[in-house]
Amino acid sequence: MKNPKTIFVLTGAGVSAESGLGTFRDRGGLWARFDPMKLATPEAYAADPDTVLDFYNHRRRGVVAAVPNAAHAALARAETRLAERGGRLFLCTQNVDDLHERAGARAVTHMHGELLKARCTACEAVTPWHGDLTRADACPACGAAGRMRPDVVWFGEMPKHLDAIERALTAADLFVAVGTSGAVYPAAGYVRLAKARGIPTCEVNLEPSDNADAFDTAEYGPASVALPAYLARLGL
Ligand code: OAD
Repeated sequence: MKNPKTIFVLTGAGVSAESGLGTFRDRGGLWARFDPMKLATPEAYAADPDTVLDFYNHRRRGVVAAVPNAAHAALARAETRLAERGGRLFLCTQNVDDLHERAGARAVTHMHGELLKARCTACEAVTPWHGDLTRADACPACGAAGRMRPDVVWFGEMPKHLDAIERALTAADLFVAVGTSGAVYPAAGYVRLAKARGIPTCEVNLEPSDNADAFDTAEYGPASVALPAYLARLGL
C-alpha cells in the first residue's frame, strides 16, 4: 500500500529485543524462565510484594540502561513524516519501556502501562519512577507509605486506553504489528478487528507469529532492518 494517510502500529517486545531487552515467549524469554503467575498478577503482589518489586526493579534497571534501536527511530521518523503530510501514525505499544519516546516518538499509547512510573494504590497518583521501588517508599502525592506499585498492567487487570485504541484502529488506513507474538489479548485480536473493517494488515516480525495467518502481508527479519525498509517502501 503506497502513501497511507493514517497508520496504526502495534508494537511488542520484539521491537526492543535488539536494544537488549528480553522478550517473553521466545526461547530463553522471561516467561520461559519465570512463572508470570508468581510475578505479574495482583495476587502475586499481595502474597509476596518484595519478590514482585525486585523482579520489576531488575527490569527497570535494564530499561534505564538500554538505548533505542533503528526500529524505534524509524517509527519516530514515520510519525513526523505522516504528521507533516496531514496524516497520523498512532503508536500503540504493549511494551513498558520508554524506548519509543527516547527515539523521538511524540505520542505513545502504552496499553500495558509504563515501568518508569509508579502508582499509589491509596490515592491512585502516578509518579515518574526511575530507581528501585521498595515497600518503604512513600507516595510523593499523598504521603502514604508502602502503597506504591509499578504502573504496569498485570495479568487479570484491564489494559489501559482501550477506547482510544479501538477508535484509532478502526479509523486507520493500514494496521502494522511489529515484534509481537499474538499471544496476549486484546492486542492479539486487533489484526482481526482491522480485517473485519477492511483495513490492510502487515506483520513485521523475526518469524511468523501465532497470528501470522491473519495478516495480509508480512516482512520477516530483525525489526531494526525489516521495519525501516518496510516504512521506506511506504514512502516514510
Ligand atoms: P512475546 O515475547 O510474546 O513476542 C515477541 C515477538 O517478537 C515474537 O513473535 C518474536 O518472534 C519477535 N521478535 C523477537 N526478536 C525480534 C526482533 N529482533 N525483531 C522482530 N521481532 C522479534 O512479546 P509480546 O508479544 O510483546 O504483557 O508479549 C505481549 C505481552 O505478553 C507483553 O506486553 C507482556 C507479556 O506477558 C504483560 O506483562 C501484561
